[in-house]
Amino acid sequence: MDYFRINGGKRLRGTVEISGAKNAALPIMAASILCEGEVVLRNVPDLIDIRSMEKLLNKLGVSSVHEPGGTLRLKVQDEMNCHADYDLVRQMRASVCVMGPLLSKRGRSQVSLPGGCAIGDRPVNLHILGLQALGAEAELINGDILLKAKRLTGSELFLGGPFGSTVTGTANVMMAAVLAEGRTVIEAAACEPEVADLANFLNACGARITGHGSPRITIDGVKKLTGCEYTIIPDRIEAGTFIIAGAITNGEIRLRNCRLEHLLAMVDRLRLIGVNVEREGDEVVVSSTRRLEPVDITTQPYPGFPTDLQAQTMALLCLADGNSIITEKIYPDRFMHVGELSRLGAKLRKEGPTVIIQGVKRLVGAPVMASDLRASAALVLAGLVAKGETRVNRVYHIDRGYEKVERRLQALGADIERRSGEDE
Ligand code: EPU
Repeated sequence: MDYFRINGGKRLRGTVEISGAKNAALPIMAASILCEGEVVLRNVPDLIDIRSMEKLLNKLGVSSVHEPGGTLRLKVQDEMNCHADYDLVRQMRASVCVMGPLLSKRGRSQVSLPGGCAIGDRPVNLHILGLQALGAEAELINGDILLKAKRLTGSELFLGGPFGSTVTGTANVMMAAVLAEGRTVIEAAACEPEVADLANFLNACGARITGHGSPRITIDGVKKLTGCEYTIIPDRIEAGTFIIAGAITNGEIRLRNCRLEHLLAMVDRLRLIGVNVEREGDEVVVSSTRRLEPVDITTQPYPGFPTDLQAQTMALLCLADGNSIITEKIYPDRFMHVGELSRLGAKLRKEGPTVIIQGVKRLVGAPVMASDLRASAALVLAGLVAKGETRVNRVYHIDRGYEKVERRLQALGADIERRSGEDE
């Protein structure tokens, strides 16, 4: 199993290019099931999750060809299979994004229920309720959700749950509704840029979607979707992670292909912490003062502070000059990194969905264990500043969402390398 060996303390300097957004690319790839022509996607990141979605699509009769520079060509060849089995779904939860497209294009979808996950409960009840509102019949068979409908019909539906809206649930209902008869209105839709990107992709294929990016999305059903060429938006979570890498090492880095307008909640908090994040032409420049101020952060659905940057920001606040509070409102149990950061000398106290962070002067390297994608990123960030050597075990988690992260950090001056070996 690969691990990272990091020697902390190097100030990062230089320019990093941000990749295409994983969480936009995955549902857009799934949406190719709906299209009658070839789909050509640009700016697709090279990640394990992207390969898993590709493998699933191949099983579902969609051919795929990679071209250098992040281009992926997808084309439906065969519409017989409608089953996403447990083996694939348990490896990657975003596999559920094929549910809506299979149902609306092929009249049937059988997708394994994803089950538990390191970041907490991840139900799909809202996806199913939304698809039922469009006329699907649902049945549970051996851990799979079987959905059937001869033709879906547009409807007005409410997609909010106890933790706000659902990102992939909104994606699923929107993908199903584009070929439904009549008008669908999704209230309490997710406003995340990745959902808006999916809507823009679907519109480029001939769909009629308006209101995306807001909590009310209107979809007028069309008879068919064509293919198109489409460029995926830059990954705001990857950008946020690199911004923290610059800040935590007291460095100065520039980001290319970064949309700061997708990161305003984070930039707002960072400025209070004492991190400067500014646009300069096409680039975003990050620099920080030596003294980090403590802040309070609550994760929320977009445009609030993203849960996917909670762990990384906690790593930064471990070194603030005072006490900070982070409250997790999307996944109240998403705190697997707390115990690992504590191994590096962080002073953290968890109380329910809240962590109180007592800033310390320094972190000290130690072996730590990655548990999920964003928690692993937080451990790498902490390792970049911890005194001495940090070994981050199980980095396959980070490979799911960050393309060649160690090489890009090396290019910024970090002392990090990938090695193979047993967990320590
Ligand atoms: N929820 C329900 N019922 C549902 C669906 C969700 O109660 O049917 C709850 C969840 O338990 C959670 C909240 O609603 O408390 C939001 O979950 P959501 O459905 O929005 O999450 P998701 O679509 O499964 C996506 C991202 C996650 C990201 C979340 C929240 C993708 C492929 N995944 O997941 O990304 O954390 O939105 O922003 O888009 C990651 O990239 O590391 C990652 C986990």
